[in-house]
Amino acid sequence: MSAETHPQRETHSFQAEIQQLLSLVINSLYSHQEIFLRELVSNASDALDKLRFRAITEPELLKDEPALELRITPDADKGTLTIEDTGVGMTHDELVKNLGTIAHSGSREFLQALAQKGQKDVQLIGQFGVGFYSAYLVADRVDVVSRAAGETTAWRWASEAHGTFTVEPAEKATRGTAITLHLKADQKEFLDEWKLRQLITQYSDYVGHPIKLQVTRHVGSGDTQATETALEVVNKASALWQRPKSEVTDEQYQEFYKHLTHDYDHPLAWTHFKADGTQQFTGLLFVPKHPPFDLNSQQQRGVRLFVKRVFIMDRCEDLVPQWLRFVRGVIDSDDLPLNVSREMLQDSAVVRARRASRRWRTTSRA
Ligand SMILES: Nc1ncnc2c1ncn2[C@@H]1O[C@H](COP(=O)(O)OP(=O)(O)OP(=O)(O)O)[C@@H](O)[C@H]1O
Ligand SMILES: [Mg+2]
Repeated sequence: MSAETHPQRETHSFQAEIQQLLSLVINSLYSHQEIFLRELVSNASDALDKLRFRAITEPELLKDEPALELRITPDADKGTLTIEDTGVGMTHDELVKNLGTIAHSGSREFLQALAQKGQKDVQLIGQFGVGFYSAYLVADRVDVVSRAAGETTAWRWASEAHGTFTVEPAEKATRGTAITLHLKADQKEFLDEWKLRQLITQYSDYVGHPIKLQVTRHVGSGDTQATETALEVVNKASALWQRPKSEVTDEQYQEFYKHLTHDYDHPLAWTHFKADGTQQFTGLLFVPKHPPFDLNSQQQRGVRLFVKRVFIMDRCEDLVPQWLRFVRGVIDSDDLPLNVSREMLQDSAVVRARRASRRWRTTSRA
């Protein structure tokens, strides 16, 4: 990577082949533009998990900002959407390495370093080192202002993804990363509060940190009308299926079932299980009390797939045989080999084994 240094601002070029890879990522990898939000929220969640992990031995890192959270701020006047976290942040060199090198994953390095020390109690989502660039599906310019935990200086990384990015000193009062997307003219729908709510609940409802959305409300009437902004938590921030069975009540299972299926009735039975060992996954599956009205013609199966609490797909056909198509619920995997866009499962031995090995230990509590 070449770097030209000016007194304040440095301009770096992406490597030549990287430039091609970048346009491939932006133009071909993802089929839905909206997944940029899932990717940036997942990165922020990883950054928060890394901080939480480091703070076990360095509690002073939390001093300037005790909250571990995400904040999403649409700005209609500027046409920008900012995704901010109070996580580990990045130093100057980490910004250059992690965001200037495609397919370089700081998160994968973090996990490898832990594994070498024999620790593996952190679950990170990132592994491929490409998710960040999905921001360019909807933005023509991205600014990243980051201050690493324990550092006093902050840095701004900026790029229009046309071959170069810049890095310069910046102001940031507290630890963490703020990513500002300058939305393309035809992507302004991502400033809309209801659109953002829908995407957060669809993809990131169970991410384990609060996701706060800045909302604007009109108060008063006539001459005294004014606008007020407030931060509202949008996601559930807790995945029921990840809690130990002993801590979940029947009412919570029933409520979760209704939330998941929009059924007005309680489920007939459910099974909540965890598989450990060569494969790790958690499942919470429900049998509805009433057969769906279209059971005989129904082709789609009803189990949702999550990987590390991030929603991947509805009605994952590969996990449920056709005859169990009335079953509803979730499967959450730690080790499923997703392809790089997280949109498809790779046909693999893991998936086949999972389908074959499912066990039913149903307790009927109708
Ligand atoms: N909000 C953030 N805070 C701190 N570091 C971040 C943040 N966003 C990205 N990074 C760093 O940049 C790297 C690249 O992010 P990117 O999403 O492209 O890849 P990844 O998360 O490692 O893998 P994946 O492609 O599976 O998402 C991350 O591994 C992480 O080190
Ligand atoms: Mg990522």
